[in-house]
Amino acid sequence: MSTKRIAIGAAMVGLAAATPMAVRRGEAPWSSQSASGVAPTSIVGGRPFQSVPSGASAGGAQIKSGNPFSFPLDNGFPTLSDDAIKVVNVLAHGTEPNGPPPTLQEDDLTSFQLIAFNEIFEVAFFTDLLFNVTTDVDGFTIEDLKLRQTVIDALVAIQAQEELHADNANAVLSNNHKDPILPCQYQFPTTNLSTALDLAATFTDVVMGTLQDVQLHLALNNAADGPNVVPIIGSVIGQEGEQTGFFRNFNGKIPSAKPFLTRSSREFAFSALNQNFVVKNSCPNIDTIKLPIFLPLTVNTMPVQPKNQLISFSVVVDKPAPPTGLSLVLINGQNVPIVEEVQNAVVRDGVATFQANFPHDEYVLDGLTIAALTKSAGPFASAEDVAKATIAGPGLIEVN
Ligand SMILES: *[C@@H]1O[C@H](CO)[C@@H](O)[C@H](O)[C@H]1NC(C)=O
Ligand SMILES: *[C@@H]1O[C@H](CO)[C@@H](O)[C@H](O)[C@H]1NC(C)=O
Repeated sequence: MSTKRIAIGAAMVGLAAATPMAVRRGEAPWSSQSASGVAPTSIVGGRPFQSVPSGASAGGAQIKSGNPFSFPLDNGFPTLSDDAIKVVNVLAHGTEPNGPPPTLQEDDLTSFQLIAFNEIFEVAFFTDLLFNVTTDVDGFTIEDLKLRQTVIDALVAIQAQEELHADNANAVLSNNHKDPILPCQYQFPTTNLSTALDLAATFTDVVMGTLQDVQLHLALNNAADGPNVVPIIGSVIGQEGEQTGFFRNFNGKIPSAKPFLTRSSREFAFSALNQNFVVKNSCPNIDTIKLPIFLPLTVNTMPVQPKNQLISFSVVVDKPAPPTGLSLVLINGQNVPIVEEVQNAVVRDGVATFQANFPHDEYVLDGLTIAALTKSAGPFASAEDVAKATIAGPGLIEVN
C-alpha cells in the first residue's frame, strides 16, 4: 500500500518520513491496546445462531470473529447476491435506494470510494462486536438478559445496515465504471463492550462529519446527478446519528452530543481509518483512493475533561530539534477552526511531544473535537481548509 503523505510538509519540519499506518501501540487515539493477533475463530452465518448460552438470538445475522478480521462473511459480503441482499434487507429493516444509479464526477467518486472503504471497516467492527456479545466473550458479557437482547437487536440491525451502506457505495462506483473497493484486514483495540461502544461513537462521529464534506463536494461539483445524491447522504448522516445516540446512551451519556455536530473532511476520515484499524499492506486496491494519509497525531491527555486546559500531543519526528512554525488546530461543531500555538515542544526518542491550549469553556467544546498539526496558522474557514495544511492528524478528542 502506498503512503500518500504530505511529503513536503514533513520534510520541511523534520517529521518522520516513515510512519506505520496500522495500529501503533499507545500512539494513536484509538489504539490504547494492541490487537491480539488472534486468528479468525468461528463463522456462524446465514442461519439462526444456535450456541448462544443465555437464550439470546442474533436471528440469521452474520457472526464472525477475528483480530485481525478478514472478509468475506458467510453470506458473501462484500459481494452480496440478490438472494443474500434480501436477507440483509430484512435484518436492516429496509432496502438500498432503488432509484436510477447516479452518474457522478471523479471527485465525488473519490467520496464514494472513501464511503465504501469506511463502511466495509464498520461491517468488520460490528460483526466482530456482535460475535463477542452473542458468545459472551470476556469483557462483552451483559448480565441483564433484557438489556443483552436489546444490544444484540441493535447490533444485528447496525451490522446489516452497514452492509447495505457499503454495498450501495460500491454499486455507485461500479455504475460509474470504477472498481469496487475491496476489503482490507482490520485490527480492533477494544477488549470490553463499554470501550468498544465508545470507540464506535467516536468513529461514527468522524463519519458524520465527513459525510457533511461529501455533501459539500456533491453540491459544488455541479454534476447533473450530484444534487440528487445530497439527500441520500443526509439520510445516512441521520442514520449514523441514531447509532451514536444508542452508543452514547449505553455508556451513560446523553444521546445527542451537540446542537451542531462536528465537521470533518475526507482526508481526516481516511487517515484515521488507516492509522487506527487497517492492517498495513492488507488493502488490495487502496491506491485507487486519491486521498492523503497524514502522520498520526496522538492525544496524550486522555480522557479530556470539560474544562480549559493544556492538552499534550505527540507525533513521530526524524530530527532531534522540535518542529517549528507549526500550529495546533481544533475543529468542533460548525465553528471556524480554532488555531492554537504549539507550546513546550520537546523531542525524545524520535517523538515530539508538545502542548496546546484547549479552550473548552469559551466554545463549549463538548462532543467530538478534531485536532490537527498544521504547517500554517491559517486562518482556516473549514475543516477541509485545515486538512489542506495538515501534517499530522486527526487527534480525536471526545468530551462528555
Ligand atoms: C472482541 O473480543 C476480542 C477478544 O477480547 C478483542 O480482541 C476484539 O477487539 C473485540 N472486538 C471488538 C470489536 O471490540
Ligand atoms: C475496558 O477497557 C478499558 C481499556 O483497557 C479499561 O480502562 C476499562 O477499565 C475496562 N472496563 C471494564 C468494565 O472492564
